[in-house]
Amino acid sequence: MLDLLEHIRWEGDALVILDQTLLPTETKYVSLRTIDEAWEAIRVLRVRGAPAIGVAAAFGMYLGLREGRSLSFPAFEKLAKKQGEYLCSSRPTAVNLRWAVERVQKLIRQEKARSVSELVDRLLEEARHMIEEDNAVCLNIGRYGMELIPEGARVLTHCNAGGLATARYGTALSPVYAAVQQGKRVAVYADETRPLLQGARLTAYELQRAGVPVTLICDNMAATVMAQKKVDLVIVGADRVAANGDFANKIGTYGVAILAKEHGIPFYCAVPLSTIDLKLSSGEQIPIEERPGEEVTQGFGKQTAPTGINVFNPAFDVTPHKYVTSFITEKGVINPPFKKNLSNLFKTE
Ligand code: MRU
Repeated sequence: MLDLLEHIRWEGDALVILDQTLLPTETKYVSLRTIDEAWEAIRVLRVRGAPAIGVAAAFGMYLGLREGRSLSFPAFEKLAKKQGEYLCSSRPTAVNLRWAVERVQKLIRQEKARSVSELVDRLLEEARHMIEEDNAVCLNIGRYGMELIPEGARVLTHCNAGGLATARYGTALSPVYAAVQQGKRVAVYADETRPLLQGARLTAYELQRAGVPVTLICDNMAATVMAQKKVDLVIVGADRVAANGDFANKIGTYGVAILAKEHGIPFYCAVPLSTIDLKLSSGEQIPIEERPGEEVTQGFGKQTAPTGINVFNPAFDVTPHKYVTSFITEKGVINPPFKKNLSNLFKTE
């Protein structure tokens, strides 16, 4: 594998993360020692991307519960419920957050025979294990996904579903890294991704750092590069996939999907199973985060719209499943019909 950044790790008594709000101009690691610091880091996108949020939430649960060593089991379990709801309130769309919180809560129930103090240690162990697990999952996504990338391919992606959005290897970018590793020539078009510029600040940064050829475009240029036949396939990530294959991802993904269909370009969505939410029958039920208007009117400190203007700033959109060629998961490439084939993934677990 290419040398990708280890941007989230446990060190001493703290969760250490690379502050992604400062990239690409500043590389600063911050230490999170309390659940409030973890909540804030997720909320303001110091750590972001669905799988990375999940990992941070698992550590957040530990940070919120490590002071509870002397509690009785019922009091500890109650605290775990409260802390879990608190962490889930930081961002609503990526289901990995709740998935991680519920996994920790389930572990507490399953291992109630231990002392509460032992349980606390077990939670840290589990959070650290989730980093290893995410690495293995993303490498498998890469292994399956690279088969879809022909020699010389030009791949368009939106937002950042790379190493920075997971523990290390990425979802949408993992097949790109794997194909490059395999010796294929692959080039990427990165949509800049308004308003927070995850494509420009993060995808362009991590691909350049890994030595993968990358060309940055503004979001409104995707149609032109497709019309000029400069794109062979699209790969994006997701924050939540509903049972029928509709999925939420960074705002603008839906438009890219429509454009890909219009131009006859395959459109792939790379996701770990932890991002698939079979409880929701369709994308209409996915909660969509709305963020402050200032992100649009004064992104990165410069005012670019009239004072007092009305702003609508949804952070995600929903792409209907009819636009998806296949999902790339750690268990293989999933083709339509998605309702049947996505649910089958869980039957064999
Ligand atoms: O708001 P962000 O930066 O957390 O949004 C991230 C995305 O939309 C990613 O594409 C998604 O979480 C998949 S990450 C592997």
